[in-house]
Amino acid sequence: MSGTLRSTISTPEGKRRYVRRLFATIADRYDLITVVLSYGLDRRWKRRLIALADLGPRDCVLDLACGTGDLLSAAAGRAHRAVGVDITHRMLQLATKRAPHAALVAADMLALPFADARFDVVTTGYGLRNVPDLRAALAEARRVLAPGGRLLSLDFNRPERAFVRAAYLAYLTVVGSALGLLLHRDPDTYRYIPESIRLYPGAVGVARLMEEAGFAGVRVVPLLGGLMALHLARKR
Ligand SMILES: C[S@@+](CC[C@H](N)C(=O)[O-])C[C@H]1O[C@@H](n2cnc3c(N)ncnc32)[C@H](O)[C@@H]1O
Repeated sequence: MSGTLRSTISTPEGKRRYVRRLFATIADRYDLITVVLSYGLDRRWKRRLIALADLGPRDCVLDLACGTGDLLSAAAGRAHRAVGVDITHRMLQLATKRAPHAALVAADMLALPFADARFDVVTTGYGLRNVPDLRAALAEARRVLAPGGRLLSLDFNRPERAFVRAAYLAYLTVVGSALGLLLHRDPDTYRYIPESIRLYPGAVGVARLMEEAGFAGVRVVPLLGGLMALHLARKR
């Protein structure tokens, strides 16, 4: 039931546990569901993120919450070194196939096993919305970035206007429930997406948190009429 789901993910510990179970369950269907839910646009948004990252042959890139390795494989083809981190082992197994030249590390993006200032670029696709503590995730991303290093994130937005938000969340709830029922016999599986957006500060809120965390030049690039967003920021 969505009431139970909502209350479960409303505490950091509840969200942490729920997210771990969820991604282990959906890992093998993740690529399919991403294409279906984005009408195939996800690839275009990720290409945009990689273009904005402006990767060079000397850059060391860390992709947080790398999942099945989309951003990671694109980064690995452009940078000196690409490292992907995820907490879900099955996701990492799938990422090995997609990004054979990247290093993969099983770790929590809230407690990264890397030294300070180790990376030139940190990327994440749909990573920030899923952590139980967004401030801690941004602090950790900043810690592992070298001074002047770039952070880029792609995620859903939480539309500011109440009626747009209500329509968007209702749409995602209906489609998510249908897909959950069809693919996993559990309508809650993809209802997590609208529920997580409800609790998310949205693109403007995330930009503010990035500034508070010590990032400069924070830029939001709206996608799909502002329903999705890319963030770019630089470590001060
Ligand atoms: C929605 S998927 C995104 C996958 C990929 N980045 C993409 O853009 O398609 C979210 C990923 O975040 C991972 N994840 C969730 N919480 C995490 C955490 N605390 N630390 C590292 N990875 C996490 C999940 O295992 C999952 O693979």
